[in-house]
Amino acid sequence: MSKIALVTGCTGGIGTAICRALCLQGPRVVATYHSGGEARAAAWQREMQAQSFEVDVYPVDIGDFASCQQLIERISADIGAVDILVNNAGITRDSTLKKMSVENWLAVINTDLNGVFNMTRQVFDGMLTRGWGRVVNISSVNGQKGQFGQANYSAAKAGVHGFTMAAAQEGARKGVTVNTVSPGYISTEMTLAVAEEVRQQIIAQIPVGRMGTPEDIARTVAFLCDEAAGYITGADFSINGGLYMG
Ligand code: CAA
Repeated sequence: MSKIALVTGCTGGIGTAICRALCLQGPRVVATYHSGGEARAAAWQREMQAQSFEVDVYPVDIGDFASCQQLIERISADIGAVDILVNNAGITRDSTLKKMSVENWLAVINTDLNGVFNMTRQVFDGMLTRGWGRVVNISSVNGQKGQFGQANYSAAKAGVHGFTMAAAQEGARKGVTVNTVSPGYISTEMTLAVAEEVRQQIIAQIPVGRMGTPEDIARTVAFLCDEAAGYITGADFSINGGLYMG
């Protein structure tokens, strides 16, 4: 029976590429969209079907523990236990620290950091019990190096890798690997939201000389979810065109 992979935040550029890469690799792919985004998710699912990618979609608010709990109960009843979790969903609320509202601080911490706990907590125990699991957390180059205008996002994304390293130690003897993938600037809606002039300044600092593609990220994520990646755990994969060499 094929494994079940759950990807959060499917409708964005990186989430879409991860779903495609996992479908091609073999597991049955289940994906989430943010509650309230039904129309966009339905259109996304139709578009994926047209390209022969079969993905079940479910709504969730990853910032809400109870919503994550209900999601996993529904997926368990409809499809089965989750073997692979890709914590991909995330948001930005960029502003300089001197102007940052408490709402924008809390929104990013709650979605990008608490969301990783809220989702992983629902499936981790089952993975340990079954003796196999893969968790991949999508962080960011800006969690590694910090970014002007992103105190909230940089803090949350740095926290994600701390979470990865702790969970990796708990999973290591039970066949469960936990890794971080830290994308740099990838061509998606999220990076397009940055003002053109600022974006061009950032691109000028990337040694490879361009933004990355969602597929650049998806290939590594899919590999980490594979059986063959069982000896890789607690690691942080930088995919950033050389923007930060840690
Ligand atoms: N370094 C140092 N100073 C800088 C600066 C920088 N990179 N950028 C701007 N400044 C200075 C300006 O020159 C100006 O200086 P003065 O006050 O002395 O005139 C001051 O900072 C402007 O401060 P403001 O608070 O007015 O800033 P702003 O409102 O104009 O812009 C911002 C703030 C919208 C956050 C803008 O800085 C920005 O867009 N930054 C980029 C944020 C970014 O990279 N986001 C990534 C989104 S994609 C993503 O997150 C995906 C991923 O994982 C990579």
